[in-house]
Amino acid sequence: MLPGGPHLERGGDGELRLEGHALDALGAQFGTPLYVYSRAAMRAALAPYQRALAGRPHLVCYAMKANSSLAVLQTFAAAGCGFDIVSGGELERALAAGAAPGRIVFSGVGKTAAEMKRALEAGVRCFNVESVGELERLSALAAGIGRRAPVSLRVNPDVDAGTHPYISTGLKGNKFGIAHGQALAAYRLAATLPGIEVTGIDCHIGSQITQVEPYLDALDRVLDLVEAVEAAGIALRHIDLGGGLGITYTDETPPRADEFVARVLQRLDERGHGGRELLLEPGRSLVGNAGVLLTEVLYLKPGEAKNFCIVDAAMNDLVRPAMYEAWMAIEPCREREGPARVWDVVGPVCESGDWLGRDRRLAVAPGDRLAVLSAGAYAMAMASNYNTRPRAAELMLDGARVHLIRERESVAELFARERLIPD
Ligand code: LLP
Repeated sequence: MLPGGPHLERGGDGELRLEGHALDALGAQFGTPLYVYSRAAMRAALAPYQRALAGRPHLVCYAMKANSSLAVLQTFAAAGCGFDIVSGGELERALAAGAAPGRIVFSGVGKTAAEMKRALEAGVRCFNVESVGELERLSALAAGIGRRAPVSLRVNPDVDAGTHPYISTGLKGNKFGIAHGQALAAYRLAATLPGIEVTGIDCHIGSQITQVEPYLDALDRVLDLVEAVEAAGIALRHIDLGGGLGITYTDETPPRADEFVARVLQRLDERGHGGRELLLEPGRSLVGNAGVLLTEVLYLKPGEAKNFCIVDAAMNDLVRPAMYEAWMAIEPCREREGPARVWDVVGPVCESGDWLGRDRRLAVAPGDRLAVLSAGAYAMAMASNYNTRPRAAELMLDGARVHLIRERESVAELFARERLIPD
């Protein structure tokens, strides 16, 4: 099976298809760069979480930073998900897509007063508070409008998630969360603040995690705290274990979501916390392998040191390779005869770091279309307009239907808010 997920397949005719649709034809029809998602693949990724959590008090809050396009949010809202948001902008997106405010949790180390106020007024389920300063500000704001803000403290359990340093978040040296050793004091303070209602506890240890053990270590540390906090007379209704479950980009073998959840529930039971509501905040594992980025080969530039395959998608469309040296599979949309060569697949942006894949064996010619796989998460959501490049269009496949869920940006839009000044 291709790493791009169960809904992606190479037909006997050499065509790469997503949810039954030939990608080459979609690229020709809608132009490139183009993001294409499978709705069935998104639902299939969510199902094992929901199956494993059935019968337990729970809420799966899709971490929308992974892919915040409205039709994606709409899909998860309709499937019963809540949302994990990290900005006022994400809040407005979630509401615009039909999310129930009471199913939204608000994470992030730097919430502004305006964002907190809007989230309070909207009635979010809970604020995941990351510092004492934030707790005090939130209390003052809420008390000022006669409210009490529902709060869970994000604690930093200081466990190594064994992932890339840029996406590891649960270690002492990270900016995230309240240190484990200071959390009890923070809870005692929270319980005295007039604008705060303590409702739970939260942690998130990193992303693209491929083992269950770091989660179980984090859960043990969190449960130690739960017991200490409750011994101090402060009740906690829910435990939020964050997101972070990895996907297969190449040869990673992350646990399946249902196995992962089963192990977590088992540990909760063993420690006598089985009845507590469990919140999870998966992002990548719900959408990563439900999407591809299509791009067209512009030029081939064989050289002495390297062969370059120059394509029309770039680091502004997909920054993961440049930013994390992430390896993402690249496949021709339509297989061609002829000798394969080893290419660096690079974009038109004026940076040496602008590459999508290095040392890839491909049989390609100018005009061919390629698909970068596993591009449903942290791809379009991290796109920029660097080099005044309009952001790509997005399609959602839904059975036989093809929906254009985001139009390609126009260049005029990119500088519409700018002003020339008098000479
Ligand atoms: N909850 C919180 C508080 C988070 O910070 C994150 C991700 C998630 C949930 C979702 O984690 P996931 O299930 O997607 O791993 N741009 C990077 C990933 C950054 C993740 C940041 N936080 C990448 O492309 O690999």
